[in-house]
Parts: sequence; C-alpha cells; structure tokens
Amino acid sequence: MADDLTEYEFPFPPATEDSIAMRDGAAANRPAGVPESYDQGKSARWSPKAIADVHAMSQLGRYQLRGFNTFSTRMPTFDDLVFVPASMTRLPLEGYRESCETETVLGDRPGLVSNPIRLAIPIYVASMSFGALSANAKAALGYGASKAGTMTCTGEGGMLEDEREASNLLVYQITPSRYMLDLEHLRMADGIELVMGQGAKPGTGGVLLGMKVSERVARMRSLPLGVDQRSTVRHPDFLGADDLQVKIEELREATGYKIPIFAKIGATRPRYDVAIAAKAGADVVVVDGTEGGTGASPEMLLDHTGIPTMSAVRAAREALDECGKSGEVSLVIAGGIRSGVDAAKALALGADAIMIGTAALMALGCNSPRYFEDYEALGTSPGRCHHCHTGRCPVGITTQEPELEERLDVAGAAERVARFLTAMTMEITLLAKSCGKSSVHNLEVEDLRALSLEASAFTGVSLAGIDRPFTW
Ligand SMILES: Cc1cc2nc3c(=O)[nH]c(=O)nc-3n(C[C@H](O)[C@H](O)[C@H](O)COP(=O)(O)O)c2cc1C
Ligand code: SF4
Repeated sequence: MADDLTEYEFPFPPATEDSIAMRDGAAANRPAGVPESYDQGKSARWSPKAIADVHAMSQLGRYQLRGFNTFSTRMPTFDDLVFVPASMTRLPLEGYRESCETETVLGDRPGLVSNPIRLAIPIYVASMSFGALSANAKAALGYGASKAGTMTCTGEGGMLEDEREASNLLVYQITPSRYMLDLEHLRMADGIELVMGQGAKPGTGGVLLGMKVSERVARMRSLPLGVDQRSTVRHPDFLGADDLQVKIEELREATGYKIPIFAKIGATRPRYDVAIAAKAGADVVVVDGTEGGTGASPEMLLDHTGIPTMSAVRAAREALDECGKSGEVSLVIAGGIRSGVDAAKALALGADAIMIGTAALMALGCNSPRYFEDYEALGTSPGRCHHCHTGRCPVGITTQEPELEERLDVAGAAERVARFLTAMTMEITLLAKSCGKSSVHNLEVEDLRALSLEASAFTGVSLAGIDRPFTW
C-alpha cells in the first residue's frame, strides 16, 4: 500500500505547464496559483465605486457634488411595513360608498394663529428654491397644488411673483442666508418656515452652482452673476432655543398673529430637536429624513449624514407626546415619499401631514422619456437622471436656461401635479378605509406590521405574525 509520503510517479513522462493549463475552461488565461478573484475583482472595500471616487477626487481636488437624493442602498424603506386591514377584529369602510376625511389643518392654535392653514388633502409640495427650479416649474407646482386643494413653499432665495400668483396657499421660507428676505413678502405669505436643516444635507447650508445663478436669480439673491453660491447654515439671529423663542415671537408680531410658524429640521436627533422646536413655540415642525431630495449637495453628505425618514417619524411623534404638544403642534414628515402608500404609512406612524419634493418634480416631468440627446449629453438617460446640479435639465425643471425652461409647459405640468396629488390621496383613503378609518388622521401604528427586525426596531411597529415589536 502506497504511503502518503511516497512520491507518486506517473508511468509516463512528466506533464508540461502547457498540457496542465485548461485552455477552454474557467481558469484559462489565469496564471497558475492565482485565485478565482483574479478576474472578478470583488474587493468589498475597494469596489469600482470606491476606486472611481478616489479617481474623481484626485482630479477635482474637492468632494463631488450632485442633485437628487441618496443612492445608499442601506436605508430601510417604508416597503418594510405593511398595513393589516380590518377583517374580524375591526370593520372596514366601503371603498366606493363611504367617505374618508382628508382635510388637514396645520397650526391650529387659537390666540397665537388666527388663520391656520387648511388643506383639502394631507400632502403638500416642499420648499424648493427658485434658482434650483425654473420659474415655470415653480408656477406649475403652485397651480397644481392649488387645484388639488393644497399648498407649496418658496424655498431659499425669496418669493417669486409667478409662484405667489399660482399658489392659493404659500409658505414663505426664511433661510439662514436671508436671501431676499422681505417684510412685504412675509405679510403676503400663508405661513413662515424657518429652516434649521434639510434631510439631504443636515448641518450644512445650501449650494447653487454658478450655472444656475442667472440674472434673475442673482438679482433676487444679491449675488454676482454665474458664481457658485454657498449659503450659511446658522441663522444669524438665533443660536439656541431661547433665541428661537424670541425670533418666533418677532415673526408673529410682524405678521399680526395671523399665520403659523413652521420650523424645518433635518432628521438627526428628532427626539430632542422636535421637542426643542415645539417648546420654543413653533406651530408646525417639519422633519426631513435623510432620503430627502436636493438641488445640489456634496454626495458624501447625501449618503452619510442624517437618519432615515421611517426611523424619524416615531421619534418625532413621541417627542411631541412627551412634551405635551401633540394636538397643539403639527408634525410634517418628508424625505423619500414616493406614493400615497408611503404617505399613508408615515401618517400611521404619527405624521399629521406629508411634504413631497422629488415626487412632485417627477409629476412635473422629471426623468420623462423625451429629449433623449440632451440626457445623453449629460451622460445619463430618462429614468436614471440625477443631474439637477448641472443646470442643464433636459425637461426644463431644474434649469435657468430659457431654451430649456420653455420645454416645460406650465398648464400640462400643473395638471399632472394636481392629478398626482389627487391619486396619492386616493391611495391613502383606500388604505384608510380598508383599515376601517373614516379619517386619514385616524390611521395608527396598530394598523401596521413590520416585515423586518430593522423596521420593527426603528418604528416600534409589531412584527408580522408574532404581533410584538422587536425589543432589546
Ligand atoms: C430641487 C430641490 C430644491 C430644494 N430646495 C430647498 C430649499 O430651497 N430649501 C429647503 O429647505 N429645502 C429644499 N429642498 C428640500 C425639500 O424642501 C424637501 O425637504 C425634500 O425635497 C423632501 O424630500 P423628497 O424630495 O424626497 O420628497 C429642495 C429639494 C429639491 C429636490
Ligand atoms: S430630469 Fe431634470 S429635474 Fe429630473 S433629475 Fe434630471 S436634471 Fe433633475
């Protein structure tokens, strides 16, 4: 019997390296002894993206900037939650015969606000600046929102006449940069939004690249033409809760105690930030999750700062409950909301209203399959475009170039926005009725079940089947 240490010899001449190589097999062209990863290149750390990022930064000498929202695949989504409609324990409402209330009131604080905002639906269009958006896009959003019975917001850079005319209800945004802050405009608004942060880039100011600083934008913001604009992040007139309280009071006086004051924050520590904003006197707190859209942001901020919308909603609602402000201070949620289904889930988790940015741009025609050559010139195609920062938007939404802006037909785009908002609301009411609710505001955490441990841990929603939330 041959022992293991005895060298075996074939009864024929030794093989050559050439005769060993498999020319037509998987190991062809790979030097002997080199592992399978040789031709696959699958380093988890040095992925093609990580390599491309170093190449880009080493050539640019700065971080990369772009529009749209995070591309991180690690964010939990509302798809990890499902509704559990009524069957025996609860009674559903008839989808086609029974009604479901959708009216949404923001800032209903007798004594402090004489004209709270009354929306026909629980969704409205987010603050997106004129500058990031074209004037046609702003007008179309305003007309579309008005037709659907809801409102829109100015965004950084002041109030555009076209937008005020188009919007039945318009919230005026005050950003730390104070671009075109105007007392007259303040008094023409239906609400005031103080921005403390955005989900896409919390803790940093706005960015508008020079290509979009047109004559009109430059005039409104008192900026030189065509120069990149980086706005400040801290409001010059308040540093903490005490000063914020004074600022809110000042704004109430300036507007005659008529309109509600909103405080918008990026979702980072919502449990504490929401409580501080509410205690400082805000009538409406807007929490924008990390999936929130932007006209332009350093890409690393999009992917690595802030917490997901889904995890922020419950924390924000609990914060209002804990400081006794629920029912008094309204909670608006934004960031990555794509449909009435997402919106309904956010309402069930505790939001009073939902704000949409990117989805409203899609309804305007963002990423629509037209002007293929112009998408191609940007190195992209319809369905994949995220090039808002370039100012070369093929469909005329995020541009200041007249020949591109003309492509956006205001009437058609406004109608699409109105139809989209109406369709979203129909999705919400269908789900609410299936859960036996006669108002969309009666949706509750108990109407949901979580499909993953993460979703349950983030939201406190019971896990499907075992009907208990995941706890440590
Ligand atoms: C093109 C664009 C411009 C924006 N401009 C502003 C702005 O001027 N001020 C602000 O507070 N937020 C701005 N935002 C953020 C939105 O107000 C909102 O928080 C965000 O879009 C919500 O996330 P969503 O896009 O996923 O719906 C902008 C967003 C986009 C997409
Ligand atoms: S189509 Fe226009 S608005 Fe949409 S992602 Fe591209 S550049 Fe931005």
